[in-house]
Amino acid sequence: MRDRLLAAEQVKAIDWRDGTLYLRDQRKLPFEDTWQACTDAAGVAQAIRSMVVRGAPAIGISAAYGVVLGARLRLAAGGEWRAALEADFALLAAARPTAANLSWALNRMRERLERLKGSDDPLAGLEAEALSIHESDREANMTMAQLGVDLIRKHQGNVQALLTHGNTGALATGGFGTALGVIRGAFLDGMVERVYVDETRPWLQGSRLTAWELTNEGIPVTVNADSAAAHLMKAKGITWVIVGADRITANGDVASKIGTYQLAVCAMHHGVRFMVVAPSSTIDMSLASGEDVLIEERDGSELLEVGGHRVGAEVDTFNGVFDVTPADLIDVIVTEKGIVERPDAAKMAQLMCRKRLH
Ligand code: MRU
Repeated sequence: MRDRLLAAEQVKAIDWRDGTLYLRDQRKLPFEDTWQACTDAAGVAQAIRSMVVRGAPAIGISAAYGVVLGARLRLAAGGEWRAALEADFALLAAARPTAANLSWALNRMRERLERLKGSDDPLAGLEAEALSIHESDREANMTMAQLGVDLIRKHQGNVQALLTHGNTGALATGGFGTALGVIRGAFLDGMVERVYVDETRPWLQGSRLTAWELTNEGIPVTVNADSAAAHLMKAKGITWVIVGADRITANGDVASKIGTYQLAVCAMHHGVRFMVVAPSSTIDMSLASGEDVLIEERDGSELLEVGGHRVGAEVDTFNGVFDVTPADLIDVIVTEKGIVERPDAAKMAQLMCRKRLH
């Protein structure tokens, strides 16, 4: 599986090259394929806020490189560079509130910075940490793909229809994807007849990004309105709903793209299995339950305009971009540390004590 996934890896969202961070502009895909060059932490924070780069793991990885860019400029400016770097950490941390990977990556960089006290070349140390965060995400995705495919084979070995929401692919991660990595793996193993992809309003991560990634690899895709998912579960024999996560809490509740919760309710009603795929960097054991997750709300114009064209009346809007799926609606959470079936607090605590499987 590993080699075939490696061979299938075509798309990437993040490129660290010659000390510059290049981010693929995901606001314009698939119509335009351009990259944005970031040379300081402010540029990376802006790219995260404006969704040039999005997806919890990709946000964390980009922020880690943002710290390296900030440190280089602060070191060059001389004086108390570590104190000055605090402003960059704060800017990056405030870019978007829900994805746990952002604070996880910044904490990793901060711990490394601490250990680099007295080092002759702290910049090299910070760069190595950011690169390791990037590489370990790719590796985690590969392990999760294997675990997810084994689960699909265990439950139904035959060819089947899957449904996914948002974008959890190579564009949202360090490579391969989380939920989309499992879907890729299942396709490579001949177990996927068709993937149904919710368009995922208002940013259309499904119809723009997921459909583009899967079509590029010849994986049969059908895009549907978010509101069609329940009907498809009934009419098209969907066997699994496979999604990603932005923050998983200590009791196994999952915050993910708005619309994921209603998918889980429909899946439970139709007896469709519900799989969440996310690296342990998305798990926040400091929060007891999903009620404690800060849900990002964005500007209403994202709802009332499409491509800059107004499509709705001038009214009040709710544009919360994530929701919480309670643990009791989830069949399995797949991580690089292993799987948790029917998640609860005890099982999540056990999982977090385990080492990574790869
Ligand atoms: O608003 P976005 O596009 O950053 O939301 C992304 C998602 O919800 C993804 O499902 C999640 O981050 C997991 S990505 C592997």
